[in-house]
Amino acid sequence: MAILVTGGAGYIGSHTCVELLNAGMDIVVIDNYYNSKPEALNRVKQITGKDFKFYECDIRDRTGLDKVFDENKIDAVIHFAGLKAVGESCKIPLAYYENNVSGTVTLCQAMADHGCKRMVFSSSATVYGNNKVPYNEEMSTGEVTNPYGRTKYIIEEILKDLYASDNEWSIALLRYFNPIGAHETGLIGEDPNGIPNNLLPYIAQVAVGKLEHLNVFGDDYETPDGTGVRDYIHVSDLAVGHVKAINYITGRTGIDAINLGTGNGFSVLQLVHAFEKACGHKIPYVVAPRRAGDLAYSYANPDKALRLLGFKTERDIDKMCEDTWRWQSNNPNGYDN
Ligand code: NAD
Ligand code: WQD
Repeated sequence: MAILVTGGAGYIGSHTCVELLNAGMDIVVIDNYYNSKPEALNRVKQITGKDFKFYECDIRDRTGLDKVFDENKIDAVIHFAGLKAVGESCKIPLAYYENNVSGTVTLCQAMADHGCKRMVFSSSATVYGNNKVPYNEEMSTGEVTNPYGRTKYIIEEILKDLYASDNEWSIALLRYFNPIGAHETGLIGEDPNGIPNNLLPYIAQVAVGKLEHLNVFGDDYETPDGTGVRDYIHVSDLAVGHVKAINYITGRTGIDAINLGTGNGFSVLQLVHAFEKACGHKIPYVVAPRRAGDLAYSYANPDKALRLLGFKTERDIDKMCEDTWRWQSNNPNGYDN
């Protein structure tokens, strides 16, 4: 019995592979390496001292998926594979719908045909749109402002329809808040292509001297210091949440949306200062105009994750920055070193 991890070479996927292996689970990984490198999986093996099967396979490739299911007894799927850049999704929405939505449909068809009906899906807090914080799972979803977010909303709805049509499915829709940090060994971490879109990878590249300064997108929000507030969650905590979600969906059926966040909000400037503490020097920044589509606040009500999964985050903002700094300073060019 093994857990199939789609997109397992990616940022969250690689950290989750570590936690699954450390929990004694067998895994099979698939990835098309669109946004990741084989070295990430070598490092997962190095950290855990364990081996696993890998298939270079696209989730839209039904023949490739059938081979994976035919050659392995897959108990459940953790489905990370997808495109995730908000700005890019506005430029090439069809690529996002094809990859994320069609890819998930193909994956679910392959799963159903092989009698595998357990899935943990990577959703996002972005489905809450402009609801009032803290976000809880009972709130309405779908008021999303970009095609990337809409793919997550649509996939959630597809999976609800799937469960309604066949109650043998057991599905967790994990709504991540803002994952940051890296494995504490500094061997795996986030390795964005080109200039990072997200705040912490950007700060980390400023800290290591690859970028000149941070642009703070707006300091006139209705927040204590005027900059945007987010719920940053350590990627290793997030990964542990997936192990708990696998245990939760095993031996039951149903579909649940579950937030994975800390419940605490930190502003852009608070994160900058936490990172300065971790790296030991100043992070130069300039205040720039607001970024279109950004909200003042986003943070979770994390109670349901505690209630259903027994999940609670353990790593604080300082640890998130320290671990990111270790990864970034040991691997200034990511996996290309
Ligand atoms: P990532 O890009 O590092 O990982 C995704 C992986 O999927 C990559 O290795 C990529 O090569 C692979 N992939 C993409 N399309 C594929 C396809 N068609 N077939 C096979 N493999 C494919 O991203 P991540 O940050 O690890 O995110 C993982 C998941 O979590 C994504 O679904 C993302 O939308 C979701 N998510 C991420 C965040 C975040 O801030 N990082 C927040 C909320 C949700
Ligand atoms: C955080 C804060 C910015 C960059 C995105 C997706 C979301 C989810 C996580 C996948 C905001 C500010 C940022 C910079 C800045 N991904 N910022 N300068 O926008 O909360 O969420 O990633 O599901 O769907 O939308 O994360 O890290 O981009 O921004 O000032 O160079 O940092 O304005 O307040 P965001 P982020």
